[in-house]
Amino acid sequence: MKAIVIDTPGDESCMKIGPADAPVLGPGMVRIRNVACGVNRADLLQRQGFYPPPPGASPILGLECAGRIAEVAKDVRGFAPGDRVMALLPGGGYAEESVVDAGSVIRLPGSLSFEEGAGSIETLLTVFLNVFQLAALPEGGSVLVHGGGSGIGTTAIDLVTRAGGRIVVTAGSEEKCRRCLELGATAAANYRSDDWVAVAREATGGRGVDVVLDSIGGPYLEGNLRALADDGALVLIGLMGGAKAEIPLGVLLARRLRVIGSTLRTRSAAQKAAIVAAFLARFGADFEAGRIRPILHQVFPLAQAAEAHRLLKSSGHFGKVVLRIADDGA
Ligand SMILES: NC(=O)c1ccc[n+]([C@@H]2O[C@H](COP(=O)([O-])OP(=O)(O)OC[C@H]3O[C@@H](n4cnc5c(N)ncnc54)[C@H](OP(=O)(O)O)[C@@H]3O)[C@@H](O)[C@H]2O)c1
Repeated sequence: MKAIVIDTPGDESCMKIGPADAPVLGPGMVRIRNVACGVNRADLLQRQGFYPPPPGASPILGLECAGRIAEVAKDVRGFAPGDRVMALLPGGGYAEESVVDAGSVIRLPGSLSFEEGAGSIETLLTVFLNVFQLAALPEGGSVLVHGGGSGIGTTAIDLVTRAGGRIVVTAGSEEKCRRCLELGATAAANYRSDDWVAVAREATGGRGVDVVLDSIGGPYLEGNLRALADDGALVLIGLMGGAKAEIPLGVLLARRLRVIGSTLRTRSAAQKAAIVAAFLARFGADFEAGRIRPILHQVFPLAQAAEAHRLLKSSGHFGKVVLRIADDGA
């Protein structure tokens, strides 16, 4: 099959279209003939050799895909060849075919395109897992998310407001802040010029937010804790700003705060299946009706994966960037 292959990790130019072995279908798995795959920040790290795939996962980049089921293992029920699906992958999305545990696959509603599906599943499950399951956002609670214009940020705005919560975002430009407000954010702080802790506290009547979803890390730790309400939870899902900080344990203790580190990719197939099931139980009706759909910034052909990575690196996007792999050969 055709895939993005990398001989030596490095800058964007190390990605080339080339031949790769078709992945082997194991028990409990389905094979997907991919039409599109999502581009995630983590792909940029993996391309440079900094984020190796978990043991047993495909070395090919790509954490999410959408396409049609091409083959189903004997023990899999509920999917059949030809079904339109999207899937959460531990790797292997930048390719014509992916194999994945059936529990990581969600049927694509007819109103969603393959590109929309490919740009949905990773951020939906990440936001759901971290905000709703791990941090246990209370009914009508509030969230602060950094990078409101990112794939994660735009999805968080959608799910939190849909659940009746309020969400404060940070972003690097007035334009991104404006677009986040248009999507339903309660408040938006330009982190280059505004005091985002003050904005988060003001938006919650001085109380602070119940949950912070943070992908910046070290330099934001102190501010994140100040932005939290008592009993709040900080969920760390990325380290874009740095991996080291000093934790003021007295603040955690006195204010009963939780700090949670979280990754989705390294979880077991059974854990991912449980997250998918819980997501569908909570948001499935909205998803199946086409009310939950990603903001697609741009779709590139697979051959232009390097351009897509440059765009993500520049943060010039708002929402998701997706690669088109093939036509739907149905
Ligand atoms: N742990 C997990 O399971 C998991 C799963 C999925 C994603 N993630 C992480 O979540 C993060 C977002 O992922 P993504 O794919 O949605 O990324 P993305 O679309 O590439 O967005 C990253 C965004 O961060 C913003 N940003 C950069 N520095 C910032 C700062 N100091 N303050 C606020 N915003 C800042 C950038 O926009 P502006 O600077 O222009 O605002 C950019 O839009 C990444 O770190 C990714 O690794 C983790």
